[in-house]
Amino acid sequence: MSIKIVETSLRDGHQSLFATRMTTDEILNVLPELDKAGYYALEVWGGATFDTCLRFLNEDPWERLRKIRAICKNTKLQMLFRGQNILGYRHYSDDIVDKFVQKSIENGIDIIRVFDALNDIRNLKSAVDATIKYHGHCQIALSYTTSPVHTVDYYVELAKEIEAMGAHSLCIKDMAGVLLPEDAYELVSRLKANTLLPIELHSHCTGGMMEITYQKAIEAGVDIIDCALSPLSGGTSQPSTEAFVYALKGTKYDPHLDIEMLDQAAIKMTITKDKYLANGLLNPKALTTNPSILKYQVPGGMLSNLMSQLKEQKAMEKYLDVLKEVPKIRAELGYPPLVTPLSQMVGTQAVMNVLSGKRYQMVPKEVKEYLKGLYGKSPAEIDETFRKSIIGDELVITHRPADDLAPEFEQIKLKYQDLVKSDEDVLSIALFEAVAVKFLENKYKPIPKVEVVEFNLLIGDDTL
Ligand code: CO
Repeated sequence: MSIKIVETSLRDGHQSLFATRMTTDEILNVLPELDKAGYYALEVWGGATFDTCLRFLNEDPWERLRKIRAICKNTKLQMLFRGQNILGYRHYSDDIVDKFVQKSIENGIDIIRVFDALNDIRNLKSAVDATIKYHGHCQIALSYTTSPVHTVDYYVELAKEIEAMGAHSLCIKDMAGVLLPEDAYELVSRLKANTLLPIELHSHCTGGMMEITYQKAIEAGVDIIDCALSPLSGGTSQPSTEAFVYALKGTKYDPHLDIEMLDQAAIKMTITKDKYLANGLLNPKALTTNPSILKYQVPGGMLSNLMSQLKEQKAMEKYLDVLKEVPKIRAELGYPPLVTPLSQMVGTQAVMNVLSGKRYQMVPKEVKEYLKGLYGKSPAEIDETFRKSIIGDELVITHRPADDLAPEFEQIKLKYQDLVKSDEDVLSIALFEAVAVKFLENKYKPIPKVEVVEFNLLIGDDTL
């Protein structure tokens, strides 16, 4: 069975390696070759790509998507979608989720990969229903992590529920890169035996063993693997596309990609990579193997975040203490997988616990909200004494958090009627209000007119 490959360099690749700063022009530059290479899909859009467009690059993320679509005539385009969080960090109302899915598909997305940080499938439902309604390919991703509750049986049961929800395919999303080779073999085998869904594997090379894990997953029957073109592969990113094309060539798994096209795209992408190495956004550390993630089960992105928080506080000597604090907090919070937004919450709490010298003396608002059930159900039960010690007798909800949210779209449209020119603009504001408003004000500001004083021609002697 030929393995299909999804190219991730244009989303996760630069997100993992240099803070998602690749510009639209740099992306468009490699697309003609990538579109002809024979990929199953190109992952091109997601939370961080959308956010950085507006916040740092002064680019319209919707325009980026339309430009990519215009070049990619042969290959499907894929995006990453955080369930009820869409591309943001809080829960949005169902009408915003529906509209965002509709507009993403209209502007060129084929495959929507939906996940929830807690694997609470109630948080996936709106996005899944909308993707099916607007005729997109709906892939649901399992947030993979290790804990006493995250057993293979747990994931198999989850996969059956996902299949029943109407998903078209399933992804094992190992955002931290902690899936071990033998565990991958067992997990993929069991998922294949218990569902009819095509299975995709997404992971990161951070710990140094991901090519082995991918190979074991392939032997167990995985259908699709996520890889990044060589210049943006390895380290905290995905395994290299070309490496798997060569490794599987001539076998029954041969992905049949056009290596000439990949080489040409890689030459262009190397120039881009060198730019980010030179300007310091790509830290060579991100390209080296880091076994700490296997020891502490902390995703690479979270490690670099912790380091920069500690550097800011001039407390780098506490780094190991903070790393050791992370698993304790995870256990107390019911073993949430460390993916956005939970990775930020657990990481910040760990820094606060260690630096203040007193655990949970300071607690971020988001951690309190999590303990009140506002992000969904924790994977394992949370000890009630612990919960009460943080939030006292405040109300804890057990229903789907978005059930409490009134429709928002029309209100936002009305509030910003003088600024927005499309539903896409409204959605940008719905997700990143202050940042998007600033971007749109700048984008639509009238071209400043120079003060012009009109006067009559000075008529004098004719010039001969
Ligand atoms: Co990833």
